[in-house]
Amino acid sequence: MKYRKLGGTDFAVSEIAYGVWGMSSWSGSDDRQSRESLKLSAGLGCNFFDSAWAYGEGKGDTFVGELKRAHQDSNLYVASKIPPMNRKWPASSRYQYAQVFPAQHVFKYVDLILGKAGFPCIDLLQFHVWDDSWADEKEFHQMIIKLKSDGLIRAFGLSLNRWEPENGIRALRTGLVDTVQVIYNIFDQAPEDELFPVCRELNIGVIARVPLDEGGLSGKLTPETTFAKDDWRAGYFSPENLRATLERVERLNAILPDKMTLPEMALRFILSNPVVSTMIVGMRNPAHVRQNMAVSNAGPLSADLLSELKKHRWDRKPKP
Ligand SMILES: NC(=O)c1ccc[n+]([C@@H]2O[C@H](COP(=O)([O-])OP(=O)(O)OC[C@H]3O[C@@H](n4cnc5c(N)ncnc54)[C@H](OP(=O)(O)O)[C@@H]3O)[C@@H](O)[C@H]2O)c1
Repeated sequence: MKYRKLGGTDFAVSEIAYGVWGMSSWSGSDDRQSRESLKLSAGLGCNFFDSAWAYGEGKGDTFVGELKRAHQDSNLYVASKIPPMNRKWPASSRYQYAQVFPAQHVFKYVDLILGKAGFPCIDLLQFHVWDDSWADEKEFHQMIIKLKSDGLIRAFGLSLNRWEPENGIRALRTGLVDTVQVIYNIFDQAPEDELFPVCRELNIGVIARVPLDEGGLSGKLTPETTFAKDDWRAGYFSPENLRATLERVERLNAILPDKMTLPEMALRFILSNPVVSTMIVGMRNPAHVRQNMAVSNAGPLSADLLSELKKHRWDRKPKP
């Protein structure tokens, strides 16, 4: 496993990191297997784990807390997220900052997360949604400074709305934000346009999320794939979106180099961009952990393949 600096923090994070949304909230998760997978990843050098209160109302924080406490010598980093008080995803300029992240709400959820995780300080606290119309809010500025000076968090970050990578740049320019979490993968290349140059300029840590397009780039979906009604993926892979995804996957399979799998190509595409500090892959079984952790040593893709993959960019727009 190779490690990269997380922006201006002093964290050296593994190139391949772990997202625990699936194991905490998706159908088909098995807690015993999830714990086994987390433990295996730490043994293979993974040291960054991304959770959120909203992942099973503290279930994800319990998983990562147990892991960190069991590996006290390994210096594992745990990230979590404060849910919006109005419980609206995605963020929007139609909501006032005071409806979403008032100080009282943020401090309450910091306490709840710490209670579940079982340690006194969160390595990286993120807001689970963000809208840049809030960037100049005094309460926002004062609160981050206080969270750090009270020793409750070591670093602060924003998780940006799906398919709106520019909606956060104003906040980055306040100097208060250490990291940004953004969707970046073979399909979603838009962060390269405006966000990444700013991250480079300001030395902001970049956490690439949804590296396998929620499973679209896993190579496992077929025209017959369905999800339980209460599983978020039932909407994301509605028949229309599933069809569009599979057409694109077919074109990617046609350019796969010999002996390379689609998930490997997808993760190495992200790895090839030096502005990315780490990518958080959703994993729930040990076989995926082994395959994905090995990608760090395989390194970046060839320049020829990267330039071919540019053509597979897929700009999607959020529906209201
Ligand atoms: N708003 C936000 O802040 C936000 C939103 C979304 C995600 N996130 C974070 O980003 C993390 C990653 O995103 P994600 O989990 O939604 O999606 P993802 O990582 O793009 O994809 C996860 C899917 O890929 C499959 N997979 C993983 N490794 C594989 C391999 N080697 N071969 C084949 N399939 C493989 C998983 O299989 P199984 O189904 O078998 O496990 C799962 O279905 C989340 O866990 C969360 O921490 C944050």
